[in-house]
Amino acid sequence: MKKMIFLCCILYSNLIVAQNIKSKEREKERFVSGLMKKMTLEEKVGQLWQVAGGFATGPNGSNIGSLKVIAQGRIGSVLNVSGVKNIRKYQEAAMQSRLKIPLVFGMDVIHGFRTGFPIPLGEAASFDLDLIQKGAHWTGTAAAAAGLNWTFAPMVDISWDARWGRVLEGAGEDPFYGSQVAVARVRGLQGDNLSNTNTIMACVKHFAGYGAPIAGKDYNSVDMSMGHFANFYMPPYKAAAEAGAATFMSAFNDFNNIPSTANPFLLRNLLKEKWHFKGFVVSDWGSVGELMNHRVAADKKEAAIKAISAGLDMEMVSNCYFENLVDLVKEKKVSIEVVDDAVQRILYKKFELGLFEDPFRYCDENREKETVESASSRDIARSISERSIVLLKKSDNILPFQKDLKSIALIGPLAKSKKDMCGAWSTANVNNVITLHEAMKNRGVQVNYAEGYDLGNNKIVNYDSTLLAVEKSDVVVVAIGERASESGEMRSKTDISIAAQQQELVSRLIKTGKPVVVLLMCGRPVIFNEVRDQAPNILLTWWLGSEAGPAICNVLWGDYNPSGKLPMTFPRNMGQVPINYQYKSTGRPYPGDWAAKYIDSPVEPAYPFGYGQSYTSFKYSNLKLISDNLGKGVHAKVSVDVTNIGQYDGEEVVQLYIRDEAASVTRPVKELKGFQKINLKKGMTQTVIFDIRDEELGFYDNNINFIVEKGDFTIMVGGDSENLDKMLFSLK
Ligand code: GLC
Repeated sequence: MKKMIFLCCILYSNLIVAQNIKSKEREKERFVSGLMKKMTLEEKVGQLWQVAGGFATGPNGSNIGSLKVIAQGRIGSVLNVSGVKNIRKYQEAAMQSRLKIPLVFGMDVIHGFRTGFPIPLGEAASFDLDLIQKGAHWTGTAAAAAGLNWTFAPMVDISWDARWGRVLEGAGEDPFYGSQVAVARVRGLQGDNLSNTNTIMACVKHFAGYGAPIAGKDYNSVDMSMGHFANFYMPPYKAAAEAGAATFMSAFNDFNNIPSTANPFLLRNLLKEKWHFKGFVVSDWGSVGELMNHRVAADKKEAAIKAISAGLDMEMVSNCYFENLVDLVKEKKVSIEVVDDAVQRILYKKFELGLFEDPFRYCDENREKETVESASSRDIARSISERSIVLLKKSDNILPFQKDLKSIALIGPLAKSKKDMCGAWSTANVNNVITLHEAMKNRGVQVNYAEGYDLGNNKIVNYDSTLLAVEKSDVVVVAIGERASESGEMRSKTDISIAAQQQELVSRLIKTGKPVVVLLMCGRPVIFNEVRDQAPNILLTWWLGSEAGPAICNVLWGDYNPSGKLPMTFPRNMGQVPINYQYKSTGRPYPGDWAAKYIDSPVEPAYPFGYGQSYTSFKYSNLKLISDNLGKGVHAKVSVDVTNIGQYDGEEVVQLYIRDEAASVTRPVKELKGFQKINLKKGMTQTVIFDIRDEELGFYDNNINFIVEKGDFTIMVGGDSENLDKMLFSLK
């Protein structure tokens, strides 16, 4: 009886919630419809324009939207302004307009705000979705406290090409994992109510396929079959849309010969019709105007027609809409219905943000003071940073350091660089970054620092003083890698190798005979074969943000046992790039004489997707299928035992890969279809279970239909994409 009452209460409360949502929807529709009836065509077009405020994140400068034009109600949004005081100034101008339609404020708040978090690719190495969602929540909370309503994140572009500098902003090469991370970041930013003052709108970018530019050259063309797009690049966009992302951003690149910003297949057919996306699409910086550079528009007028007709709702920075849409509607070259749809989408989001109720609801200076750069934001930053670190190599017992370690020779300017720890697209307060050098000193160990190499030209400098530092110390920790300016937008490289002189320095340090730990600080997969072969210990620390130093120290001393796994394959040489683990068998599968391989290089990468070591070791056993007591839609369950056979408690990312043995189209040799991060005390065993459903077995055909075919599948489970226990499963 009690259970019945409890169930009825649950049902009733769900009913009430559903009714509240419905009535809020009706209220929103009524309000916006009434408002639009009052709006002039000029005011409607004004809502479709976003201007830059404080700084430019693209070419042709920031046309700082004049407060006068805002006061005329001819601008709908401002980007690159933050801080309650600054935002209030712009909003007050909007309140002078005839209809007092509030502005919406956006900015690239990508990994933390004022308290810098690890770069997204580094955070993705944690394979900890709860933590990733929590990190996005903190980022959104801080940005909202600073007056913002909208961030241009998450970047969900899948990429196999580390020549492309923007891999640092995403979640790597895998569409399944990339989808999970996209959802976690959208949910973290938006919460379950956009009108809450600790949530902001997400913006899924860059739609679409931006991570696959030909030759790895930023902004370059993207060209692929629909089947390839649907299986390898589309999933994170789709998952983020289904997770309720409020906005999308069109990509700079042309996609199959049509610029994404004016691509009706992408923006209308796929996003708004097939996926029923109800939010709005903003162009990337100036990309409506850039339709002329793509040479698909003769002038701004034609650019405006093509973009708005394709479903591009809000124009960022370029002013093709502002200058031409009113005339184009009057000349009946653009229908008012198309304009109204875009305006309605934008006003709906402003309503959901609560900006009509209170245009200054995000402008609370006390909340800003209490929230931004709070101590708890540093705690979450450190926790994410620790879990982002990947132990690539451990071949002696120097790690983790003993608590009584007396002295360390700390070599390399990256160990002292606040700026480079922030990475690209950072909104961190650089001054609050704790470097590795500072954190080591804070631990009380004797730190003998030497520059080692000049970060400007990567040449070895003052080697004598480096040797002196080494001689005085028990162990050597050397930081090598990239500067923050080397990865990010417009940072494509033809060679992703770590500078030869940095690697030469490491070789010399190893020859001193002292124990050496190499820290690799970078924003992308890099090539460093000399160090990889010679160094006994290598930790990949990416760029970790404000708590970089403490997090690295916690790993070095074993306060946290590293658990990170690579979200992107690390190539062995440039010839292998682009490289990923989901390659096809081909008609001549490797290995073999007549096989898909090279004559001058192995096909295997330096480090595979999903790889990462621990101070302890994990044994996989007892892989089996469970075929009874299954849930609805579950074809089978996979069970595996994982045992911590080492000397330390630790976390392991148990990974499930599946291979479709025979299908109607060619399929990858394996695909990640599940993972679970488990925490195992030394000596303990845990049984991990995965469901096998259509979602794990199916794929997209060339018409973007998701299909599942019966037949044999190989199920693989392990701690990375190479070392896997296997078994067969047949879908009857
Ligand atoms: C930049 C980037 C995009 C960013 C936008 C606004 O060019 O491509 O990711 O959100 O402009 O700063």
